[in-house]
Amino acid sequence: MEFYQTLCLLVSLSAQALLDFPFTTAQSCHPVQSNALLQFSNSLTVQTDMYPHCDPKTTRWENGLDCCLWDGVACDNVTGNVIGLDLSFSCLQGTLHSDSSLFALRHLQSLNLGANNFLTSPILPELSVFTELRHLNLTYSNFSGLVPTEISYLSKLVLLDLSQTFNGTTTYVPSGLRIENTDFKVLVQNLTELRVLKLDLVDMSAVSPSSFVNLSSSLTVFSASSCNLQGELPPNIFRLPNLLDLDLQSNDIMVSFPKSNWSKSVESLTLSYTNISGKIPDSISELKNLKTLALRSCILIGSIPSSLVNLTELTRLDLWHNELTGHPPSFVGKLERLIHLDLSYNNFIGVLDFSVFSTLKNLQVLRLTVGLNLDSNNMNYIFSELEILELSSCNLIEFPSFLKSSRKLRKLDLSKNKISGRIPRWFWDLGKDTLSSLDISSNLIEGDIPQFPWKELFDGHLAECLMALARLSVLNLRMNMIQGVIPGKIARDSSLRTLDFSQNRFEGTLPRSLLQCKSLEVLDLSNNTMEDTFPDWLETLPKLQVLVLRSNKFHGFVRSPRAARPFPELRIFDLSNNNFSGPLPIRYIMKLTAMMNREKGRGQLQYMGGYGYQDSVMVTMKGLEIRLVKILTIFTSIDLSSNHFVGGLPMDIGSLKSLKGLNISHNNLTGYIPPSTGNLTDLESLDLSSNRFTGRIPQELADLTSLAFLNLSENRLIGPIPPGPQFTTFKSDSFAGNLGLCGFPLPETCKSGSWETPP
Ligand SMILES: *[C@@H]1O[C@H](CO)[C@@H](O)[C@H](O)[C@H]1NC(C)=O
Ligand SMILES: *[C@@H]1O[C@H](CO)[C@@H](O)[C@H](O)[C@H]1NC(C)=O
Ligand SMILES: *[C@@H]1O[C@H](CO)[C@@H](O)[C@H](O)[C@H]1NC(C)=O
Ligand SMILES: *[C@@H]1O[C@H](CO)[C@@H](O)[C@H](O)[C@H]1NC(C)=O
Ligand SMILES: *[C@@H]1O[C@H](CO)[C@@H](O)[C@H](O)[C@H]1NC(C)=O
Ligand SMILES: *[C@@H]1O[C@H](CO)[C@@H](O)[C@H](O)[C@H]1NC(C)=O
Ligand SMILES: *[C@@H]1O[C@H](CO)[C@@H](O)[C@H](O)[C@H]1NC(C)=O
Ligand SMILES: *[C@@H]1O[C@H](CO)[C@@H](O)[C@H](O)[C@H]1NC(C)=O
Ligand SMILES: *[C@@H]1O[C@H](CO)[C@@H](O)[C@H](O)[C@H]1NC(C)=O
Ligand SMILES: *[C@@H]1O[C@H](CO)[C@@H](O)[C@H](O)[C@H]1NC(C)=O
Ligand SMILES: *[C@@H]1O[C@H](CO)[C@@H](O)[C@H](O)[C@H]1NC(C)=O
Ligand SMILES: *[C@@H]1O[C@H](CO)[C@@H](O)[C@H](O)[C@H]1NC(C)=O
Repeated sequence: MEFYQTLCLLVSLSAQALLDFPFTTAQSCHPVQSNALLQFSNSLTVQTDMYPHCDPKTTRWENGLDCCLWDGVACDNVTGNVIGLDLSFSCLQGTLHSDSSLFALRHLQSLNLGANNFLTSPILPELSVFTELRHLNLTYSNFSGLVPTEISYLSKLVLLDLSQTFNGTTTYVPSGLRIENTDFKVLVQNLTELRVLKLDLVDMSAVSPSSFVNLSSSLTVFSASSCNLQGELPPNIFRLPNLLDLDLQSNDIMVSFPKSNWSKSVESLTLSYTNISGKIPDSISELKNLKTLALRSCILIGSIPSSLVNLTELTRLDLWHNELTGHPPSFVGKLERLIHLDLSYNNFIGVLDFSVFSTLKNLQVLRLTVGLNLDSNNMNYIFSELEILELSSCNLIEFPSFLKSSRKLRKLDLSKNKISGRIPRWFWDLGKDTLSSLDISSNLIEGDIPQFPWKELFDGHLAECLMALARLSVLNLRMNMIQGVIPGKIARDSSLRTLDFSQNRFEGTLPRSLLQCKSLEVLDLSNNTMEDTFPDWLETLPKLQVLVLRSNKFHGFVRSPRAARPFPELRIFDLSNNNFSGPLPIRYIMKLTAMMNREKGRGQLQYMGGYGYQDSVMVTMKGLEIRLVKILTIFTSIDLSSNHFVGGLPMDIGSLKSLKGLNISHNNLTGYIPPSTGNLTDLESLDLSSNRFTGRIPQELADLTSLAFLNLSENRLIGPIPPGPQFTTFKSDSFAGNLGLCGFPLPETCKSGSWETPP
């Protein structure tokens, strides 16, 4: 005890001395080391645009000035040797070679090269020259290849950070670092001083988690998230006597919680996206210091043990998406320090009185979507810190009145409840400076969207309507009974990204002010009673990807575009079920460049959305009306069905090479089906039914190997159905009701001339 007190005193004294006299280093830098530093710095380039705000420390290194005073350099105050080098986040780029002058700095005790770009250099075995090294930090620096065996020679290491994440970001995917099983075993056995070990995103697929049994008992922080670990986690890891923070999330590991003797020191346990066998044991309450428990999507079963109520330090409890059953845990209301609570997507039974949450004054995030039946009468509480509230599918019958007190609200999801009546006036005032996502879709809300309140709330003309909420990026009012015209006033620098007003009773014309929504990506007005002509003036919106006007009373001709590249990003274009007339809007279609660009968005599958909101849209695909609950950024479709379009399909339709769905059924189209339709090689669904197309089915159409749905019925087509790999899967109703089609799968056989029966 005395020893520690003395040590603490010494440490605090010297820290104080450093603060008071920052430049009192007794010795100045050795020229050899100074040169080595300069050489190292010269071997790299400085890219100030590498990360926002990276700090180019080495550009301030001044030759001639004592290197011990350089930014990022620390010297031993007695010998003058360079013992510390912190060049993290210094905008450095280059390759590390085995003859790098860095390795001349043999006295280094601490080396941090994190958050730079070493252009996939390997971590070199020469590192083992740093025999005094206690801290080695190479996080997020684009190193790649095998972690060298020699790292285990650094037996004094206290901190080893090779993680490939930085500040929660993970640009290097997949990370290029890998570690072998034998090397990891030796590392674990040899580095007995290790207190902090971070390996997030390093490929550990070859490492057996069983070697964790030999982890140093000094270990306080161990993180190996997204490392592709496989196998069973030894339970002793939860008994490491000094463990504070364990993060093994996103690995294919089987975790068994210990039934007793948990390490008392643990403060943070993150095992989300792993398999945890069985239930959360009662013994978890031994973790008296636990602040974070994150077990998202872990296939957890059983009920939440009531012993959890003893974890009074908990600030974050995340049990999203498990298979938890039993009564909803009303005791969470006793965990008064909770800041972040997520119980959504479980199978709780029974009703939870919302008032249990009223004690949680610090709540910033509350997610109870699906699985919780809330008794929400009289919600007169105060949640002044609330930033994210998700109560989708919770059986709410009214707008929670506590929201009046939530001035910091950023995201609100009250969708899929039974909220009825008009939107209360105070509602428009919530989070007016902060709200970025508002989803009140699928309720029983009625009345119109008033124009007036904002005149009182804000000053001037800037912000007079709902969309004037300057930070709002998602507004989803889908499937209610809201009526009236869409309010016309929109904030000048609107950040609206998604506007979903579908399935309501909106009427009248589209406000021109939508043009101010330069960030708009999704505009869905389907199933309303809007009466307007085609909003060609939207064609200049630079980011619009989804335009859905289906099932309204839009009418008139769709005229030619004015812009050279109209709707430059449009991928889902739906005008179906309106009263449009005149020729097909061919000139528009032929200029939809986003549907021609095959490469864009390929590779990694991504969905539209952001900030935890996922865009969704209704489309008719494969003859069915389906909701795409996530919109793949590579999904493309054109639906012009059920209008009064006349004329033919153009030859150059074949240029829309990325098109997945094309529906122009139920119009008055004539002429041949152009053979170039066969160039739509991504096409999965094609509906040309109920038109007046004539002639034969082009052979090219039968070559479309992705085609899973085809409807050519009710036209005036003649001749044999061409043979083709996909065509054999279609039934006769794909071809029924034509003038003279014959051959499989129709009963009519082709009789004469070139109309031979296909094999
Ligand atoms: C030098 O630093 C050590 C710790 O590294 C400290 O204990 C000692 O007091 C310092 N000496 C001087 C002269 O500052
Ligand atoms: C490693 O360095 C980075 C950049 O300075 C820092 O953010 C991170 O916290 C360090 N790692 C550890 C374990 O201290
Ligand atoms: C990592 O380095 C490689 C090789 O030079 C380079 O192609 C890649 O862009 C770098 N990664 C990042 C995220 O900078
Ligand atoms: C383990 O560390 C010792 C120094 O403590 C070193 O001599 C030995 O080579 C290391 N073993 C391996 C396999 O790295
Ligand atoms: C890390 O993230 C925090 C908060 O997100 C931010 O304030 C800080 O500037 C970031 N640090 C760096 C070095 O990017
Ligand atoms: C743990 O270390 C011992 C030697 O200290 C070794 O014999 C054993 O194989 C190691 N266990 C695992 C699973 O690596
Ligand atoms: C985890 O669970 C999933 C789904 O039940 C299963 O496919 C996978 O094999 C399991 N992994 C392990 C390591 O048990
Ligand atoms: C738990 O700790 C007790 C007391 O220290 C000890 O007797 C017992 O063997 C331990 N149990 C396990 C499974 O380690
Ligand atoms: C909470 O802890 C106390 C004292 O340690 C214990 O008596 C009580 O049974 C625990 N409560 C639950 C629900 O486990
Ligand atoms: C939209 O309206 C059309 C036609 O009025 C109707 O057939 C369809 O079911 C509606 N769709 C939804 C999702 O309400
Ligand atoms: C198609 O055109 C015919 C004749 O021009 C007309 O009678 C019919 O109503 C039109 N059908 C549609 C769906 O517009
Ligand atoms: C269709 O592809 C063929 C080559 O396969 C090409 O000659 C023709 O120009 C393409 N037509 C269109 C409209 O893209």
